[in-house]
Amino acid sequence: MNLPVNPSIFRKHFPAFAENDLKGWAFFENAGGAYMCQQVIDRYNHYFTAHKLQPYGQYPASKEAGAEMDDGHDSMARLLNVHVDWIHFGPSTTANTYTLAHAFGQVLNAGDAIIVTNQDHEANTGAVRRMAAEKGLEVREWQVNPATGSLEFSAFENLLDDKVKLITFPHASNIVGEINPVAEICAAAKKVGAKTIVDGVAYAPHSMPDLSALGADIYLFSTYKTFGPHQGLMAIDPELAKALPNQGHFFNDGILRKRLVPAGPDHAQIAASAGIAAYFDDIAKDLNIAAPNNGERNLFNALRDQETALLTPLIDYLKSSNKVRLVGTDDLDARVPTISMICEKPGLELARDLADHKIMAAGGHFYVYRLMEGMDVDPNHGVLRTSFVHYTEEAEIHQLISALDQVL
Ligand SMILES: Cc1ncc(COP(=O)(O)O)c(C=O)c1O
Repeated sequence: MNLPVNPSIFRKHFPAFAENDLKGWAFFENAGGAYMCQQVIDRYNHYFTAHKLQPYGQYPASKEAGAEMDDGHDSMARLLNVHVDWIHFGPSTTANTYTLAHAFGQVLNAGDAIIVTNQDHEANTGAVRRMAAEKGLEVREWQVNPATGSLEFSAFENLLDDKVKLITFPHASNIVGEINPVAEICAAAKKVGAKTIVDGVAYAPHSMPDLSALGADIYLFSTYKTFGPHQGLMAIDPELAKALPNQGHFFNDGILRKRLVPAGPDHAQIAASAGIAAYFDDIAKDLNIAAPNNGERNLFNALRDQETALLTPLIDYLKSSNKVRLVGTDDLDARVPTISMICEKPGLELARDLADHKIMAAGGHFYVYRLMEGMDVDPNHGVLRTSFVHYTEEAEIHQLISALDQVL
């Protein structure tokens, strides 16, 4: 295998790779949470040591704290190719969807319909389904193909009509890994006047989405999976953010950033988020390609190429094995490297076995309980999931394949 980029260009920015206790261990639980880059750690430390105090105040240290938070918002807007008014930070994606479900519940009425999927992490479907039950809305479930776990567009089209007011679906599932056609789904939704909430948590670590191209009304992801702090990022079309009922304090109604984040901002983590963009800028410089900037995609394309090269031997191995059922497509361009396998042994047991070979992986249903049932897999049996990102090394992929060979 010839990797397009030497992974040391990426790995030097992650202190975890120099950690003695982690030496020899290959990390395949990135879909659970990626390592944090130095650029984020530095900003986090700086915020706490230089001015852990109320931001946006009247004295210099407080103004500086506010400016660092603004940098967090601006940097994420630049990466996602949207105006900064789109950017909201909440405690987690689960908390953000909970708030959104509440807000939509105040504007939707009995007789309206919503579309949800059974491929979603429960975070992107549970609160909305609960809200729909309370409000007497019609719930239409876009179901996966039970054999593959894929969401098929034709099945979605059959559910869509002008009664549908809200659609929640994943950009990629954290088990299936297949990339759903977000732009196509959002365009169809717009035609009938439905709003879209896209869960990008399992996709964003592999390529920051160009939100202007995708056309989603709301796009969510968790920055602890994109090399940053433990936060949920919620990008919302500002017109929609203004139209949804205020979920914050009544006197903050006119402050867009505060209307849909009742938890209040985590100042240091928002400031530290700017480090995610700084990491991408630094590696773009090292690779001698343009930094990601308002729709400039060269870096993210290069990271995807790196992942695809790493994925090739793993998928080849899994296709040749009669001991695993690969969940999702084996088309490398159509998926992210979150690879789930249905095996004879429960996923959790296999993850334990892999740990004996210094592989960090995980097993279970990963909060996608409804998908397990939809694929006729006992959620308690679950899947074995191995997930990686662009900083993974070729040798680690071979370590995984050799370990799988022994434990399966
Ligand atoms: C696809 C997906 N959506 C949503 C979530 C929930 O994110 P958070 O932990 O920020 O609440 C996760 C968490 O693992 C996830 O994998």
